[in-house]
This record gives sequence, structure tokens and C-alpha cells, in this order.
Amino acid sequence: MIEEELRGALAALVDGLPPRQASGAVERLMKGYRHDETAPVLRDRADVVAYAAYRMPATFAAVAAALGAFASRTGEWRPESHLDVGGGTGAAVWAAAAVWGGTAGGPEGTPRRTTVLDRSEPALALGRELAGASAADALRMAEWRHRPLTGHGEGAGPGEAALPAADLVTVSYVLGELGERDRLTVIDAAARAGRAVVVTEPGTPDGYARTIAARDHLVAAGLRVLAPCPHSERCPMVPGEDWCHFAARVSRSSLHRQVKGGSLPYEDEKFSYVAAAHPAVTGLPASGRILRRPQKRKGQVLLELCTAGDGLRPATVTKRHGADYRLARDAKWGDAWPPEREPGEGAASSPG
Ligand SMILES: C[S@@+](CC[C@H](N)C(=O)[O-])C[C@H]1O[C@@H](n2cnc3c(N)ncnc32)[C@H](O)[C@@H]1O
Repeated sequence: MIEEELRGALAALVDGLPPRQASGAVERLMKGYRHDETAPVLRDRADVVAYAAYRMPATFAAVAAALGAFASRTGEWRPESHLDVGGGTGAAVWAAAAVWGGTAGGPEGTPRRTTVLDRSEPALALGRELAGASAADALRMAEWRHRPLTGHGEGAGPGEAALPAADLVTVSYVLGELGERDRLTVIDAAARAGRAVVVTEPGTPDGYARTIAARDHLVAAGLRVLAPCPHSERCPMVPGEDWCHFAARVSRSSLHRQVKGGSLPYEDEKFSYVAAAHPAVTGLPASGRILRRPQKRKGQVLLELCTAGDGLRPATVTKRHGADYRLARDAKWGDAWPPEREPGEGAASSPG
């Protein structure tokens, strides 16, 4: 499995370092994040090893969840090419392999053409090294290209040179490192380059605000939102009051335990995302999505939904709802709701 392969590759990386060096590099990197969301620059091998070992499992899990939600809206569609913008050590490339496998067209197909762009040479070098040992063709054969997304000079900035075209463009955990104008220039360039664009950001109020600004630009460029939203209209959340985000469970590595202490074997990575596509990609958004962890009570499940017709609203699913109640007991934060049925399957009475 791709996730285990990635974990194995990261564990081998950290095993090669004296424990103090690894946790020292992580602490420096995290201090940068705490003080200034736009600060971290992956300058050298120690920075990128720390980033990969400490953050990559979490960004991988978040992007895999976002791509998984997108894939569940687009059925048989598979990207034959993938461009990862600000891809760093390649979390989104691993995530795409987890969702669609390593090939463009089934197990016997040709490898998905994969390109990673980043300004950090050490990040690209480590990404190449990690992916080089993978069993997935798309990872092993990915191209890792040095490319600053902002600034001037040869090859710099998507405004000056278009991004290479690809079926899928991912922009994950990058917008927070760019100024506001650059962010939107990158998103506009992604909308021109990709048939589908998936943007993932930290699940904080600021990450959500950047995601919504990206969503507005993708919609203005003619893309339709396929996940998580049930429509491409304005987001009904009121900025400052709430923010749309989800959670992906990440097993903690021994390095995490060293740095953070605590005994929990996992943590939840909170993320915001938008997945949108040009009309050439067939697919439909869900008619609603669960926005909070479902609350289970005796004989009922309470859901907070974002819906196509009624915006934000709660729903209570009780035993009276039969099959839907059983599904609601298993439903998770981030799932589509109401449950989608094959023709012929029925519910006792719909909780909507
Ligand atoms: C937080 S890391 C995210 C990496 C990866 N996408 C992930 O999800 O794990 C941000 C990445 O954006 C890259 N980046 C930041 N500003 C950039 C710029 N102006 N041009 C190109 N890459 C940039 C950094 O080098 C780094 O690899």
C-alpha cells in the first residue's frame, strides 16, 4: 500500500540521522511555522528531512482525503497527467498514487506523467529520492523541476510563463507561503493548465480564507466545484464565524513522539480543500456534505450539513429512518450526505 511504502521510506530517512539532529531540525522548522505562516524555506537537507519526516505524512493524508473525495465525484475519470505546484517532497504525488494507483489507465496502463515544480532544490532532491524507491511507476518516473512560482527572471512566476498543462493540478499547503497577489496568480495559472485543480490548505480560519479565495478564482475561470461543496455558488459560511475544514487521521511516527511527547498513537490533521474541474471532466458534486463529526445519541445521529438547496443546516437521523440511520451511525465528518444509492435501493423515510 502506498501509505505504508511512504512511511517506510520516511522511517529509513530518519533512521539515518542522530535522534537529536532530527528532532532539532523539526523544532527549528516548526518554530518558523508558528511565528509566521509564510516563513519556512526549505533551504538544506536537514530542513527537508525534517519537513518530510514530520509534516509529509500529514500533508499526504490531507491531500489523499481531498483527492479521494474528488475521485468519488468523478467515477471512472483518471488523470493521465499530474502537475504538482509547489510540490516540495511530493506528498501530493504519493496521494495521487494512493487514490488512482501509479498508472494512467489501470494496472496495465502507462504511468501517469507526473511533474513536480518547486523553488527548493533540496526538497525536489529528497522528493526524487523518496519516490525513486516506490513500486508505483508514476512516482518512480516523476519529473522534479526547479521552478520558482513568483518573482522575476528566467522561468520565474506563472504570470510570465504558463504552467505545463495536465489533467490534474494540485496546489497543496503552498498558498500560505505566497503573498496574496501571487496566490491568485498561481491559482489562475493552475486553472488554465489543469482540467481539474485540487487546492489543499491547513484547516485554520486563514487556510479556509485562502481556499475560498482560490475557489472564487477557479469558478470565475469556468471550473465547477465538485468537492467538498455541493454547488459552485457562494460559500454560505460567514468568515470570522466559522470555517469549512475536515480532518484526516495520521499515525504518529517515533519522531513525532520524540518531538511532541504524548502517548496517542495518532493525530488528526485538519485541512480545508477545494476540488474543481472544467466541464470536460464529467462528475457531479454531492447534494450535501457532513461538516462536523457526527454526534451519536441514543436512537439518533445529529449531523451538521452543507446542502445544495438549503445551505448550512442540521439534520437528525433517527431509527425511524431505517437504512439511513444505520448509515448515519457509520458516517464520518467529510462524507457526502444523504447517502447515495444505487437505483432500486430505498430508505425507510428520508431525513434529507
Ligand atoms: C509547506 S510546503 C508544501 C509541500 C507539499 N506541497 C506538501 O503538501 O507537502 C510548501 C512548498 O512550497 C514551496 N514554495 C513556496 N514558495 C514558493 C515559490 N515562490 N515558488 C515555488 N515553490 C514555492 C516550498 O519550497 C515548499 O516546498
